[in-house]
Order: sequence, then structure tokens, then C-alpha cells
Amino acid sequence: MTEHRSPDAHFRTSLLEENDGPGANPTDNQTMGEIIAARFSRRGFLQGSLAATAIAATVSPLALILADDARANGGSAFTFDEVEAGVDDKHHVAAGYDADVLLRWGDPLFADSPEFDPTKQSAQAQERQFGYNNDYVGYIPLDGSAEHGLLVVNHEYTNPHLMFPGLVTIVEGEAKQAPLSKEQVDVEMAAHGGTIVEIRKVSGKWQVVRDGKLNRRITSNTEMALSGPVAGHDRVKTSADPTGTKAIGTVNNCAGGVTPWGTYVMAEENIHGYFSGELPADHAEAANYKRLGIPEGAYEWAAHYDRFDIGKEPNEPNRFGWIVEVDVNDPTSVPKKRTAMGRFKHEGAESIVAKDGRVVFYLGDDERFDYVYKFVTAGKFNAEDRAANMDLLDDGTLYVAKFAEDGSIEWLPIVFGQGPLTAENGFASQADVLIETRRAADLLGATKMDRPEDIQPNPTTGKVYVMLTNNSKRKTDQVDAANPRAENAFGHIIEIVEDGGDFTAAKGKWEVLLKCGDPSVAEVGATFSTATTANGWFGMPDNCAIDSAGRLWVSTDGQGPKATGRTDGLWAVDTEGEARATSKLFFRVPIGAELCGPLFTPDDQTAFVAVQHPADGGEDWEPFGRPSYYEDLSTRWPDFKPDMPVRPSVVAITKQGGGKIAV
Ligand code: FEO
Ligand code: CA
Ligand code: CA
Repeated sequence: MTEHRSPDAHFRTSLLEENDGPGANPTDNQTMGEIIAARFSRRGFLQGSLAATAIAATVSPLALILADDARANGGSAFTFDEVEAGVDDKHHVAAGYDADVLLRWGDPLFADSPEFDPTKQSAQAQERQFGYNNDYVGYIPLDGSAEHGLLVVNHEYTNPHLMFPGLVTIVEGEAKQAPLSKEQVDVEMAAHGGTIVEIRKVSGKWQVVRDGKLNRRITSNTEMALSGPVAGHDRVKTSADPTGTKAIGTVNNCAGGVTPWGTYVMAEENIHGYFSGELPADHAEAANYKRLGIPEGAYEWAAHYDRFDIGKEPNEPNRFGWIVEVDVNDPTSVPKKRTAMGRFKHEGAESIVAKDGRVVFYLGDDERFDYVYKFVTAGKFNAEDRAANMDLLDDGTLYVAKFAEDGSIEWLPIVFGQGPLTAENGFASQADVLIETRRAADLLGATKMDRPEDIQPNPTTGKVYVMLTNNSKRKTDQVDAANPRAENAFGHIIEIVEDGGDFTAAKGKWEVLLKCGDPSVAEVGATFSTATTANGWFGMPDNCAIDSAGRLWVSTDGQGPKATGRTDGLWAVDTEGEARATSKLFFRVPIGAELCGPLFTPDDQTAFVAVQHPADGGEDWEPFGRPSYYEDLSTRWPDFKPDMPVRPSVVAITKQGGGKIAV
């Protein structure tokens, strides 16, 4: 989710990652982000949508010629002609490629689904339609095919001011959002969760199989099981579930993963926003909830459902913040919250089979000053017997990362009874340790990072890439080798190599692959290669993917006219040889959107990307002439064109005439 920017705190665009971590800067010093914002803002208003031209003008013609030469000779693994960075209300893909909208919020998923009508929304309709704010995208082949499979997509959160016509009105020049009705809250709950949908490529274009027998919607009301060490613990028992084993629904599913055995895992990230109310005085969960920012109260669900009011149902938040595993082969299967993988603001769960057959999941906790984790299964992956893998995620070891100044990394086991994780510090069992994973990691001395998002192991090179979005609150005296910039407005990417190339190793080495931001502004301190053009640099890395040739692709969240003079997009990043740290822009999204996914099909012929919250925050952009949420949606939808995705949408990128995306 974007960390930003709406001037109106009551719009749910601004807040969920604003919960300050332990090192929040109490001063009102101008941050690096604000200095840069002022710079781009001036350009933006002078140049309008030609911001990219203005940026290019800051680089000398000689530098551009040198950059071109370097790229031609530098051994880049990417040959496409890059897109021009900039800001407008359309998406743009490199020449010679098509970017086709495959699925939009509200699209029918079943034979009996109603067509999308924004003026007639209901929970019943939304439960049969594609959900809102698509984030993680995964592909699970059917019969081993790269052209016929299941697309699995997370629906992270809802923007009611963009969803419900008439919700926002202008009163004396100010935008005011009305309280949501129960029916609108029910639509929101149905718009969360995930979608599993059969898709097929026909004559080079992807199509949704609307009556696919495995098609499924998962929502905030889908019955789930709590499994692993926390299942049945007193701290997860509620009045609706005195056994502590049956959770109701999932929320804020950000990134995720597909396991080697073909299940879909969904990460529950910003869970704090869904809870309101106050705990009873001196309640035992007070410190636990404070560490996660609960309750934050951004959603109005507690007004209609007591389980989101912590005064009435104090244990309900302990049933969120987990990794959820879904067996996509059975649309009636009960999704399982895999508690062994820890409880925090989970961003993603990308995995790899280690040399000895155990499976390693890399996990980010996306908050300023929070941690990088990995989970190693106790059992081994069985490629011959899918059923034998179905409970691998209930037993294993969770580790948190400590990055040392000398370029080494240590993975610290989060195990009850070891080190400080004992009764002396309030832990009576592994269940306690997992429910309060952050506090356990605090006690172990883990390294406080600049918002860890997607973490991706690369099976071709054996390296692991960690996206660190930004951290404007890091003070000069909090800088360390792994988080080397104060007021880190643009984020960075860390590369890890585990000892012996063994993903289960307890130790490894790391280095910074890239410090992001505009390399032509000395104060930013960005480290893109000199072959990177004015279009090729980016800030705020969020999600990433590795294609089957082992190349890194990075998508971003939080750029825009003020922050970087460019919308978010998908960049191809060289990691090997002379071209290391060279980046090229492949695809960019409309104003207001972040880009999620990305995901390559096994044949590398399609890149699926998720365009999340387009038009949100468009008040930054003068050509709109007004904040996007002033717009009357009832007049906007009829104007929708496929090349102007104003609904959250999944886009399929293919090469014209066929072939691999990048050779
Ligand atoms: Fe939902 Fe950390 O992005
Ligand atoms: Ca994200
Ligand atoms: Ca990823």
C-alpha cells in the first residue's frame, strides 16, 4: 500500500503504513523527501505532463551519449527500448509490446455473476466478481501449461471514496466523505481477500474462463482454520470461536506466493486498520497490540461487526497478521492460517526448495524499522506426492535477520526457550513467541530495516533480493550499513548470498545492490550505474520478480509527480557483470496507481502486472484539475477505455507477434 499523501486524513489512502516504528523522528526537520518533493513539484507545475523532459534536461547531452555507449557495450541483459518516464493518466509499455487489461475490479468470475454496475453494488454481487486493489499475482499452471492456468490475485484493501458514487461531497470547498452504510461495509468485506480464476491464452491473448470449475473468491468472511503452534491457544479464542481454531476471513492481503507444491499463500499485512475500540483496562494484550499499532480504526467495520471492536472481542486481532495457505485444487477447501510463519505485517512469502529438500520462505515485515525474516520447513518437499506437502507450513523454524557492518548476515532463530525467549520475558510457549513475533525479534537484536517489502530468491544465481521501500524517519544517528541513508526517501535493494549457496543456512553475506532515487541529484546518493538513463532510475521499490533467465524486475509504490516526477512502473535491473545496477523502464502506470505483481509465466512470454488504486492521490497532478476523488463515478465508468485503467486491474504484457518478453 502506498505510504502517502492525501491531505484529507479521513480518506483511506494515507494511513496504514504511517504507524511509526520505535525510532520515529520527533522533530519537524525538513526531510530529504520534502526537499526533493519541492524540486519535482516546481517542475511539475511548470511543465505539466512533460516532467520527464524536464528531468532529462538536468543531465548533460554528453552524459547521455556516454550513457548510451555504456549501455551498448555494458553487457546489459535487457534489449528492449525503454519507455519514457513521466506522468499521465494512461499506462505505457515498451515499443513492440502489448499491455492488455485482463481483469478489472467488478469483472464477473462465474457464469452467474452479475455484470459490474458501480451504482448497484452489493456484497452478493462482489462475492461473484473480481475484488478491489489487486496486489500479489501468481500463476499456477494447469497440466503444466504456460498458456492455461489459474491466476491467483490478492485484493489488499478498499478505497471507498473511489468505489462508491456520491460518497464524497464538496462542502465549502472541502471534500467530505460520508460514513459508510452497513451495505457498503459488506461490499468492502467482499472486495477484500483473493481471487482464483482460470485463464487461457487464445491466439496470443489471455482470456478469463468465466465458468472455470476452480474459480473462487476468498473474502473477509471466508471460514478459515488456524493451524500450527498457535491453533487452540487461549489468546486466539473468541466468543464466536471458543476453540481458537476457526478464523473468519482474511484482510489486507498484500504480496504472497505460490508454493512449490502449487498452493497459494496470502500475506496479511496492515491488519491494524480494521480494529477500533479500546481494550479493557490493564488487558494482557495491550503491549502486543501497541507494537502493531492496533487499533488504528481506519475502517468502519467495528460499527457493524463486534469482532472488529477490541473492547468487545479483545482476542480477535491475534487471529490476523498471519500467512494464509489456500489449496486451489479444491474450491471448497478451508484456507489455513499458518501460525508457524509468525505474526506481523506480512508483505509476501516467496519460496525456494533448498538443496536438502526443505523449503525456505522469505518474509518481509513492512513497517519502518521492522524486520526481514525467513521460515525453513522442518519437512522436505516431495515433488512426487503433492498431498505429502500439504502441512509442511505447520512445522519449521522462523528466523529474523541481523545484518552486520562487515557484510555478513546472521539468521537468528525465533524459538521458545532459546536466548531471551523465555518465561522471564513473558513467553510461556512457542505460541506466545509467534503471536508476538515482533517483540521476540526485538529481544533477539534483529536489524531495524527501511520497510522490508517483497523478498525474492533467485533460483538461477542463488542470490536473494530484498526490496526496502523507504524510511523518511531514519535519523542520522540511526544509519547503519544495511540502511545507509538517513531520511531514506527512495529506498534501496539488498542482495543476500546464503553461505554455501544453501538457502537454509544460518549465515550469509549481503551487499547493497542499489540505493534508489535520482542519480543526477547528488544529495540523493543514488547508485544506479552510469548507463542508467534519465528514464531508467526509480524510487520506492516494492515488489519484484525473477524471470526464468534469472533476471530481476522491480515494481514501485509511491512515486508520482512530486516525489520523483514519474508514475510507478516496472523496471528491469541488471544484477550481473559490468552492467550491474543498470535499470531500464519497461512499463509505467497511470497517475495515482502503484504497480504490484509482477509475475512472469513459466515460458517468459507474459508478464502479469497488477495496477492498484489508479487515480488515487491524483490531486498531486495539475492536469487533473481537481482531486481524483471529487469525480462523479457514475459519469466516469461509461467513459472507461481499455487503455485507461481507472479501475484496479490486472494487465497482461506480451510481445507483439509472440516470443519471450525480453531476450
Ligand atoms: Fe501492502 Fe507493504 O505494501
Ligand atoms: Ca507492497
Ligand atoms: Ca515477488
